[in-house]
Amino acid sequence: MKIGVFVGSAPMSFSARASTAPTVDLQWGDPSESVQQYSFADTECYVMRRHGAQSQIAPHAINYRANLWQMKSLGVDAVIGTHTVGSIDPNLAVGGLVIPHNLIDYTWGRESTFDDHRRHVEFSEPYDAGLCTSLAKLDSEVLHGGVYGCTQGPRLETAAEIARLANDGCTLVGMTGMPEASLARELEIPFASICLIVNPAAGLVGGAIDMAALREISTTGAQKFVNLIERFCGAQ
Ligand code: HPA
Repeated sequence: MKIGVFVGSAPMSFSARASTAPTVDLQWGDPSESVQQYSFADTECYVMRRHGAQSQIAPHAINYRANLWQMKSLGVDAVIGTHTVGSIDPNLAVGGLVIPHNLIDYTWGRESTFDDHRRHVEFSEPYDAGLCTSLAKLDSEVLHGGVYGCTQGPRLETAAEIARLANDGCTLVGMTGMPEASLARELEIPFASICLIVNPAAGLVGGAIDMAALREISTTGAQKFVNLIERFCGAQ
């Protein structure tokens, strides 16, 4: 099996040795960086940092089409996006992992389709249920279920925007979940998102969001993504 994994900016260390996969097809422009390939027992794992090697690409400026196309060109059977998020549901604790089951897209102006002419794409259930369940089963502390609200960024939200998202039914908020998920659907690649909660969303606790804590948890929590993905790859 081959899986593609998009990761954020925090350094992550996989237990297998990395090699650089070839960049095969640039018809949608440059992907964020070259893909690193890790070989596990029964899985080839292709990892790309969606913000680029120097974390230089903001969420709204990522070439999601080139990134997904690169994974497709490598022949992946599934794609997993790892995403740091703010929690909107007050029951969700900072530091926890959540695999959402649905999403609402609040982004604008992103190149979000491979085809301006073709067809409607079914997207009622944006995440692949089987893939989500397989991931959630690997760790009893991972919560399966939640609605990911994808905002434009790069700024964080106002308290009023978060109140609106809560009212809409969002339990998590992030900036990079779309159009990653819908482009994967266009390419008919099963997609799942694993979210690490790094802060309570704006307005949920008194005062401003603690940005130093957000960065700290994004860094220390990143290895949780690796552990889950390596388990999925049969490495642990
Ligand atoms: N909002 C949007 N994106 C985020 C947040 C947030 O509160 N935390 C981490 N990514």
